Amino acid sequence: MSKKPDDLSSIPRHIAIIMDGNGRWAKERGLPRTEGHRIGAESVRAITEGCKELGVEFLTLYAFSSENWKRPKREVQALMKLLELYLRRETQELMDKNIRLQAIGRLHDLPQHTQEELHRAIETTANNTSMTLILALSYGGREEIIDGVKSLIDSVEKGHLDKAMIDTEVFSKHLYTRYYPDPDLLIRTSGEMRLSNFLLWQLSYTEFYVTQKLWPDFRKEELRDAIKAYAQRHRRFGAV
Ligand code: FPP
Repeated sequence: MSKKPDDLSSIPRHIAIIMDGNGRWAKERGLPRTEGHRIGAESVRAITEGCKELGVEFLTLYAFSSENWKRPKREVQALMKLLELYLRRETQELMDKNIRLQAIGRLHDLPQHTQEELHRAIETTANNTSMTLILALSYGGREEIIDGVKSLIDSVEKGHLDKAMIDTEVFSKHLYTRYYPDPDLLIRTSGEMRLSNFLLWQLSYTEFYVTQKLWPDFRKEELRDAIKAYAQRHRRFGAV
């Protein structure tokens, strides 16, 4: 029997989001791009809360890509400051909601002070159990695969791993995401139909949902629409 369009019974265990359109949102209003990022951070708060309320276990947000370093220095600095502000302000909120914070990416490339704030928030929330919020920072899918290959080679050279034992499961354990299940649903805002180097390995069987809404306008109602669309899908994982 086909599911009703308002069906929220099938909640994805892991949602990944490409948060796109902050710049366009600001441009439409004659505001600086950084203002789009600032309101985008409010969407981060709303969507984290929405996912927790709906029973999503893992939420991964593409907050800063490897390619984002190429943006004007002032915009990169503003994004780092915003991230630090978010981490300082939201840690208590994450504690109150029992949400654990994690991060993936080449975190050592972040400014020292941003790294400190990040690690403080990760440590503070480490024992929370209701949901895991994963920020992808200085993250690139190809870079992650390269880092995974290096880690595999290291294990083989040290004699911890036999080359003949390498399969997809073993390789997954050498990625940044080794502690998390693959995403069930990928959401991309602002209409672009691209992966933009996000979770290339992990999204192999993930359902995609692309919306025209710009990220600062993506709130709980839009999240529910995405989950309703997901509930309508029939996942086959390559089988018939
Ligand atoms: C894409 O919009 C968004 C980003 C590059 C960064 C995402 C950052 C935030 C949502 C704010 C801070 C994050 C946290 C976790 C507090 P864009 O600038 O590419 O938009 P455009 O494509 O319209 O130019």
